[in-house]
Amino acid sequence: MTRVAIVEGDGIGHEVIPVARKVLELLHPEYEYFPVEVGYHRWEMTGCPCADRDIADLKSADAILFGAVTTPPMKDYQSVVLRIRKALDLFANLRPVKGTGFDIMIVRENTEGLYSGSEEISDDRATTLRVVTREGTERIVRSAIRLAKQRRGKLTIGHKANVLKSDVLFRDICLAESKAAGISYNDKFIDALALDVLQHPASYDVIVTTNIFGDILSDTTSYLVGGLGLIPSANIGDCYALFEPVHGSAPDIAGRNIANPIAALRSAGMLLAYCGDSIGLDRIESAIQEVLATGIKTRDLGGSTGTREFGDAVLHMLHRK
Ligand code: NAD
Ligand code: IPM
Ligand code: MN
Repeated sequence: MTRVAIVEGDGIGHEVIPVARKVLELLHPEYEYFPVEVGYHRWEMTGCPCADRDIADLKSADAILFGAVTTPPMKDYQSVVLRIRKALDLFANLRPVKGTGFDIMIVRENTEGLYSGSEEISDDRATTLRVVTREGTERIVRSAIRLAKQRRGKLTIGHKANVLKSDVLFRDICLAESKAAGISYNDKFIDALALDVLQHPASYDVIVTTNIFGDILSDTTSYLVGGLGLIPSANIGDCYALFEPVHGSAPDIAGRNIANPIAALRSAGMLLAYCGDSIGLDRIESAIQEVLATGIKTRDLGGSTGTREFGDAVLHMLHRK
């Protein structure tokens, strides 16, 4: 039986994940769903944001639906989501940004780069080691190439090799692998790429880049489709997979039933495709489009529908088919 771990996390995770869970339960009542509680609230209550036991529970699932967790900028607090990505070796972070006339897949390396975890801080100096390895780069660029071949066959490599030695290695491996794979490819400095993707989104297919560049690029690119409430993501490794919106816990709007649940719904759709139900992914997307077409929208898209009510409208649309 397919087992799905449900992690609401913090903030709007408690609002958007229940919406996505209802849709999963409607489409797959035969799956087993079980909650795993991790995050900042859990830390406030117990002093531990995520225990080894929670990691074991997550590993016992076939797939994980994850909301978002609050990560306070405190010296000793370790981000739960980063811990999970590392513990489950979820090396490929896929972030699709799709709108009228463009369809971009950002493939973000998810385990190394500036998120190596190799850091030091004192009162006067702090350092973070940016680690790029051949093994880490080969596996992410090969994932990106596989995706490009299933799509429009074009790969763009985003880097900053003009100043960073770590990106010289990243760029050179990506170029060599792309050439060997016989796909169409180019490379761009990440700062110029960030603007060009906003100006000419239609000229992009798959973009592969390092950890923090992919983080920033996915938030900025969400501007093309109406913001963070819309972009889902998949974190995929060889053994495990976690699906989450690109957005965070949004404390500024949490608890008000105004968050857009579309990113969470689309993340649930990606989860279904990973579990072998690509039709489920398409059904969720069609239902979202049909609801939006009737003018039902959350506040970030200029509407006034609440999070729960938008979810109910999607459920209603799915029931009718
Ligand atoms: P954020 O993504 O939570 O919010 C940025 C802005 O976008 C806010 O104004 C917010 O209201 C808006 N927004 C986000 N999601 C929305 C939605 N679904 N509908 C409507 N508006 C939405 O980023 P932040 O404010 O920089 O970070 C808040 C917290 O979330 C931090 O603690 C951060 O570390 C954490 N975070 C967690 C994850 C994760 O767990 N995967 C991801 C990003 C940020
Ligand atoms: C994301 C978030 C995380 C990241 C943070 C919360 C650790 O910004 O998933 O985009 O930087 O990867
Ligand atoms: Mn981010």
